[in-house]
Amino acid sequence: MSDDLIEIGKKKAAIKAVEDNVKSNMVIGIGSGSTIVYAVRKIAELNKENNLNLKCIPSSFQSYQLILENGLTLASLDQFLEIDLDIDGADEIDKKLNLIKGGGGCLVQEKILASNSKKLVIIADFRKKSESLGENWRFGVPVEVIPMAYTPIMKKMELLGGKPKLRMAKAKSGPLITDNGNFIIDVDFGIIQNPMELEKKLLSIPGVVDCGLFIKMASKAYIGQKDGTVLVI
Ligand code: A5P
Repeated sequence: MSDDLIEIGKKKAAIKAVEDNVKSNMVIGIGSGSTIVYAVRKIAELNKENNLNLKCIPSSFQSYQLILENGLTLASLDQFLEIDLDIDGADEIDKKLNLIKGGGGCLVQEKILASNSKKLVIIADFRKKSESLGENWRFGVPVEVIPMAYTPIMKKMELLGGKPKLRMAKAKSGPLITDNGNFIIDVDFGIIQNPMELEKKLLSIPGVVDCGLFIKMASKAYIGQKDGTVLVI
């Protein structure tokens, strides 16, 4: 797969989503990952050109920096209890707009923003769309856990039929540490038939902070296609 086509897909999806959904005076949730970078640049451009008075709430240290670097106004959930529009990427999007997120390790804050938003708009390239979750995203469901509980949690994941793997850091020995000081376990459940039930089971395990299954949260997805068009579902 050409990297150029993927980048073009991400960029076109992000730009169209911003053009279609961003309006003046909005409080916007900013997701994390590589696709959101294109969206933030476009939001900043529109904000500057049209004096939109936007406020942006980050979902990670990465998006906090992106907001500042692009000259946007940083805000928090303490100031604005309700977000008008949350824009974020995804690792996989099924036909009902259920998602797997957290490939970049930032799922907890992302889900908090999504759950406090009037509208969650997803931006992604063509690799991310599938019929059912677990079909195209083969790294498993990211689960953020309290470090002291990771071994018993991994055992419990196996009992649920999953293959858990502690995510390791790159350029550091040992596990990846999230923005919240936790670990991530990626759990391969194969093709997920009932994501809502699986989410409930995962969240009932003590020590699990949250998981990357985002069920019935997204309102719309903008998916950049190989031919340069953007599919909106
Ligand atoms: C961050 O942890 C994730 O939830 C991202 O939103 C997701 O991994 C999509 O990232 P890309 O835009 O880099 O594909």
